[in-house]
Amino acid sequence: MVLAGSPLTPCLPDGPQARPEVESLQSYSAPLEGRRGLLRLDFNENTVGPSPKVVEAIRAIPADHYAIYPEYNGLREAVVANLGLPALTPAHIGLFNGVDAAIHALFHAFGAAGDVLLTTSPTFGYYTPCAQMQGMAITAIPYLGTDFAFPMGAIRTALLMQPSPRLLLLCNPNNPTGTRLAPELILELAAAAPDTLVVVDELYEAFTGDSALPIADFAATPNLLVLRSLAKTAGLAGLRIGFAIGPEALVDRLGRVTGPYDINSFAVTAARAALADQAFTDTYVAEVLRSRRWLLEQLHNAGVRHHAAGGNYLLIWPSRPAQAVEAELRASGILVRSMAGKPLIDGSLRVSIGTREQMERFWAAYREIENLSSLP
Ligand SMILES: Cc1ncc(COP(=O)(O)O)c(C=O)c1O
Repeated sequence: MVLAGSPLTPCLPDGPQARPEVESLQSYSAPLEGRRGLLRLDFNENTVGPSPKVVEAIRAIPADHYAIYPEYNGLREAVVANLGLPALTPAHIGLFNGVDAAIHALFHAFGAAGDVLLTTSPTFGYYTPCAQMQGMAITAIPYLGTDFAFPMGAIRTALLMQPSPRLLLLCNPNNPTGTRLAPELILELAAAAPDTLVVVDELYEAFTGDSALPIADFAATPNLLVLRSLAKTAGLAGLRIGFAIGPEALVDRLGRVTGPYDINSFAVTAARAALADQAFTDTYVAEVLRSRRWLLEQLHNAGVRHHAAGGNYLLIWPSRPAQAVEAELRASGILVRSMAGKPLIDGSLRVSIGTREQMERFWAAYREIENLSSLP
């Protein structure tokens, strides 16, 4: 993954240079090393692992199949069956090596130098570098007030800019603020801006149930694309599999900028097994929602400033610098993500929600570190 780099990033004095947009980006290593064995509440992953049926299916892959290029037959059909929406066909489903790869592809296919990406702030960090890679301009509208409400008025106004924004990227619920946006309003935005590709990143939709898909009519809004992943709920983050769902023509364009074998055979097998065991995912999501309610009660009773809306995560403002508290939690075996420096939520920690037992462990450590132990 890459993040926006400074314009002063040094170029190699000799040898070929990349496109200017790439030379001004910086390689970015997400803090994803050394996490195994720790309680991972830092990247909103599933915290218990996938369905046992996924494990069985992967174990059953004969070794000689490792030598064969992956085959995708049946996977799009399995996604359609899992979604259970009569209007969807396999041609509406694009397969990607994680939703990150779908995001990369849609910028590659649709974003040209000088085009505008319209989005919100703060939001998922990968949209910005993808836009910068293409030389796009970015208009990021801040969420509103202490509840981080969706800036509907400003987005509507910005959509009317001329020329129209090329892309509108909406994360629903938003990572990291949890802000929810009614799917009807998304459709309204898409219908009002036919020249803009409206992308709804629904990575955390399972935790809210707010999806544009059941009410979307791709004939009426041929500019609407929805992103879904098996990373956060089904527990396949390490295998990398994600979907872009939308009108056939859009899915086709994304396919044109994606390699023929970008999704590996293990991910295909795992995805099929996970999609066939929706009960496992539903049980996990229900457990997360229950433990989220429990943690919110503790935070409320202890008078700790926090913010929670949609998603399997919430924001907590510790009494001391977020990075120091993040480091102390890490020393006690618990990973959370400092939001230090992020617009509007500077000073907070983003804490992913896992099982009740995991949240009890987090809360005990947090109380100790923040000297809240004397509270009830
Ligand atoms: C909002 C959002 N979109 C996309 C992604 C990437 O998902 P995937 O693991 O499927 O690439 C993430 C991961 O953190 C995310 O939070």
